Amino acid sequence: MHRPAVVMASFSSFISILLVSSIVLGSHLSLSSAQTTPPLVGGLSWSFYKSNCPRVEKIVRDELKKAFKKDIGLAAGLLRIHFHDCFVQGCDGSVLLDGSASGPSEKNAPPNLTLRPGAFKIINDIRERIHKACGQVVSCSDITALAARDAVFLSGGPDYQVPLGRRDGLKFATIQETLDNLPFFGSSARELIAFVRNKSMDATDLVAISGGHTIGIAHCGSFTGRLFPNQDSTMDQTLARNLKRVCPTATSTEGTAVQDIRTPDLFDNKYYVNLMNRQGLFTSDQDLYTDKTTRPIVQSFAVNQSLFFEKYVFSMIKLSQMNVLTGRQGEIRANCSRQNSARTYLATVVDGEGENAAI
Ligand code: HEM
Repeated sequence: MHRPAVVMASFSSFISILLVSSIVLGSHLSLSSAQTTPPLVGGLSWSFYKSNCPRVEKIVRDELKKAFKKDIGLAAGLLRIHFHDCFVQGCDGSVLLDGSASGPSEKNAPPNLTLRPGAFKIINDIRERIHKACGQVVSCSDITALAARDAVFLSGGPDYQVPLGRRDGLKFATIQETLDNLPFFGSSARELIAFVRNKSMDATDLVAISGGHTIGIAHCGSFTGRLFPNQDSTMDQTLARNLKRVCPTATSTEGTAVQDIRTPDLFDNKYYVNLMNRQGLFTSDQDLYTDKTTRPIVQSFAVNQSLFFEKYVFSMIKLSQMNVLTGRQGEIRANCSRQNSARTYLATVVDGEGENAAI
């Protein structure tokens, strides 16, 4: 008589275990899938050019493969341009614009003076190839986002889908706005956390995207403050000695140093290993390990490259969607370094001058 009750009881507890575990598993799965891809911003799509430029991604990748064979430094240049584009006014290609008679552009702001001219050039070269193949349908801001993705992948990092459909901005930010929206190399982790909060990013996003410093170089001016007049006590002695050879005085400007002393051109998790060994180049890097909030995140990436790649992809997709222009906003630039209206304006001025000359 009791047996069925016991069976029933164990059956029902089996069902509840099943239910609980499927809820736990389900929530875990949805959590992990939510972690790998942030929500798509309205107006962007995973297959935006499917019908009008299906080869766009292949063109970008093929061109970059060729370019990186000649100069792998371009990869770092392209990644940094995308970051500087998105933090200032959103990912609208505004950093690509040249200044004009009406004023200097974002390119003239101090943090952008060290963006690589060759990286700007390749974005416009790729734009030309794409526009030849598909017409003027792909924006410079989308090309910049794809180039940053490929820069990382072709340097050994993760591959991932980039949401597309951005439109190019009609104006650039002022020098002051540019300065206000780019992080400073002398900042502490606390300051940086507060800074990126304004960009809807948290401490994990900050540590993950800072991993971009696993490739590329920096000029003396970005780190001599840690060498002179007094040596930063959080910097490894040997690193400091070597950096002083490249930048012998507080005002040295010429020299450059690699950002990741272990694997300078490889996109991997060694940046975090460096930080754990006091070999970060900037205060903004090294303090991520000194600070108690960000330290465990640095440690977790240093011991687990897959985890770093997963978080990096998540945070970069988030970054790549910041304040984008979509739909009928902005334009598709015919030349990445100037607005379409600037061409019309220029033509009018030139025509006007022609008329004047005739008079
Ligand atoms: C979090 C705050 C950050 C600060 C304070 C910072 C600052 C800097 C500075 C000062 C340089 C060297 C400039 C020079 O002296 O030539 C640099 C280089 C670089 N940064 Fe950042 N950065 C930050 C975040 C990022 C992010 C999020 C990325 C990309 C995801 C990134 C990618 C790069 C790359 C690839 C380079 C090397 C560029 C080259 O070799 O041309 N940085 N950064």
